[in-house]
Amino acid sequence: MEIVLSGIRSTGKLHLGNYFGALKNFVKMQHENRCFFFIADYHSLTTHPTPDDLHGSVKQVITEYLACGIDPDVATVFLQSDLPEVSELYLLLNMNAYVGELERTTSFKDKVRLQPNNVNAGLLTYPVLMAADIIIHKANKVPVGKDQEQNLEITRKFAKRFNHIYKVNFFPEPTAYNFGDDLVKIPGLDGTGKMGKSEGNGIFLADPPEVIRKKVMRAVTDSGPTRNNQEMSDPIKNLFTLMEVVSEPETGKFFLDKYNQCNIRYGDLKKQLAEDIIKFTNPFRERITEIYSNDAYLRRVVNEGAEKARLSASKTLREVREIIGFKPF
Ligand code: TRP
Repeated sequence: MEIVLSGIRSTGKLHLGNYFGALKNFVKMQHENRCFFFIADYHSLTTHPTPDDLHGSVKQVITEYLACGIDPDVATVFLQSDLPEVSELYLLLNMNAYVGELERTTSFKDKVRLQPNNVNAGLLTYPVLMAADIIIHKANKVPVGKDQEQNLEITRKFAKRFNHIYKVNFFPEPTAYNFGDDLVKIPGLDGTGKMGKSEGNGIFLADPPEVIRKKVMRAVTDSGPTRNNQEMSDPIKNLFTLMEVVSEPETGKFFLDKYNQCNIRYGDLKKQLAEDIIKFTNPFRERITEIYSNDAYLRRVVNEGAEKARLSASKTLREVREIIGFKPF
């Protein structure tokens, strides 16, 4: 059984793209591996959230993961900030992380460009903390998007470096967990690329029906086909792709036939799509509302998660300290 660890950014609500992109696979994967899911709340401090924003977004994210089917009795679900062992390993790893190599990472360079007035040391050592998150549980597999591949490569470098310096074979070198064909890319509503968080592009799992209707009705279309079987423009393709994941197959076929015969009314397609999205997201939204208001349940989940996570973290840290030379007299 593989040890799989996923770090979850504690920013923003989950949209349909997140669900079909990774979460749906996480829910399946938790039964096939030993999974750790944690909210990277220390990492989020690099952007200086207010205390209320920090707490609020951590609560929202963990609620939504649980609502989607991450099962705290199956996987280990915890908050990064509940694991003091991670901070200690981060400190130790920093001693063998070089400023030059950290400055050269793409994500750091991006951040310098994005927040030139807040180039803090936490940003520079972001990949060191991420490495600590991963290797403290001796994880073998990490599901990461394209933007995090370099950070995972740095993790391997630090794991290898530790093993080399201390002449041990202690940390495994984690690789990316690949979902292969199960990764469904969900397009946005603005006719461009993937679904994201930007205004007018995404549908959140927590969106109420009237918001979903409004967003879908405003989705970008074109002026309609003028020839039978005309090739579709991207915005229209996107609406059909969305239909493929939320609607009955007959519904998609019905509108496709209409499109091919040039008598489609995009308004009708959108109305149907909106209702099907609502039907699909309703159970999620209900569970989100229910879990979000149940502080006792959330408290129990994170407390038990921290307890479980600290078992493997403290074991690793004890051994690391010993390897480095912090030995009892
Ligand atoms: N950097 C990741 C992101 O922005 C979040 C993260 C923090 C993470 N620690 C991790 C992901 C450890 C995987 C493993 O998405």
